[in-house]
Amino acid sequence: MYLTREEERILSGYEGEAKALAIKTLVKVGEALGAERLIPIKHAHVSGISYGTIGEHGLALLEELVEKGARVEVPTTVNPIGFDSEEPSLMSRIGVRLDDEFVKGQMRIVKALRAMGAQTTLTCTPYYLPDTRFLKPGDSVSWGESSAILYGNSVIGIRTNREGGPLALMSAIVGKTYYWGLHIDENRKPTTGFKVDHNEPLDEVMAGLLGKLVAERYAGVRPPYVKVALRDELAVKEMLAAVGAAGSLAMIYLDGITGPSIDIVKLERFETIDWRELASLYEEHKPSEKPDVVFLGCPHSRAEDLARLAKLLEGKPEPKSKIVITLSRSEYRRFRESYPEYLGVLKEKAVIVRDTCLIVSPFGRDDSGLTVVTNSYKAYFYLSKRGLKVGLSTIEDMIPLLYM
Ligand code: F3S
Repeated sequence: MYLTREEERILSGYEGEAKALAIKTLVKVGEALGAERLIPIKHAHVSGISYGTIGEHGLALLEELVEKGARVEVPTTVNPIGFDSEEPSLMSRIGVRLDDEFVKGQMRIVKALRAMGAQTTLTCTPYYLPDTRFLKPGDSVSWGESSAILYGNSVIGIRTNREGGPLALMSAIVGKTYYWGLHIDENRKPTTGFKVDHNEPLDEVMAGLLGKLVAERYAGVRPPYVKVALRDELAVKEMLAAVGAAGSLAMIYLDGITGPSIDIVKLERFETIDWRELASLYEEHKPSEKPDVVFLGCPHSRAEDLARLAKLLEGKPEPKSKIVITLSRSEYRRFRESYPEYLGVLKEKAVIVRDTCLIVSPFGRDDSGLTVVTNSYKAYFYLSKRGLKVGLSTIEDMIPLLYM
């Protein structure tokens, strides 16, 4: 790999041991992939920081980096952890028992990332944070967290490969990544397309199921073009999260969102997805029994989603199922400020947890008999793997389920 004089200096340790280690890792991975050079990035998002996943080894590496003087060179955000960092006891309201070792280990991880200069709002939707509004289409970043990566590439037009958490951190420390994959114009152009033969915009559940189908059917590396009408921002977000959960894609070219329409017959391959296939998948995934928990917030909710739910719950009696909402501290603040009239309703009827989600927390690990209803295919995918009974439903259709 070609390195500039400055990069050679970093590699030789003139800017400290931590930065040398970070650039060495980037160069090694870049060379293995065939990248010719490094490029600057504007932002990094670090995922995979749950103590439950990286354990003592991961924590030791982070603390060692801090000791060696690691500092992030670009604005850096961080994915959710296993509990609400300011109110860990809230987790007991959703049946999650946290042991002391887990809490202490997790907080040491957050402390280490903060010491490196990362902004620790702890969310998988960094694209909703005011801190990322400066990013413009075409900017290269280094992001972990598949749902955010897909949103970044496909909606905002920023450029990132599907980085693992440690690599995004190494990029943050150097302020660079390898010029490869989706950082290159040519690799962002679709050669295959999918078209849904239906004109009604898809809701968030249908959109998620479409994301699953596309991810399972498409084996290529380039982003596939998808021509479909999606009902709203929530549907877009859920579709992209489903694509990330069900496969290895890092981007899809969404008609009218990622860019202008493409003449589908000019693509090398295209496929029409039969509406009836999606409708029967919807039936298969519908909840079949009374839910113990109704979960909203994978990926983390926006203030508008909370307002939508609160409006539907207003004036209704106490729900018979537990409602759990997960979101970032920053969106929660926005909800409080923008929709003060709904705060009381949700506080009374739901458990609102920040910094975490049901999947990164140990939710349901001791109680595989739990029944969960969610509007997120990604949550369905991971909670089912945990042995829970999961059904899919839109926010609107969740309401009658709460009183079964
Ligand atoms: Fe986010 Fe947790 Fe879903 S980290 S994307 S809410 S699995």
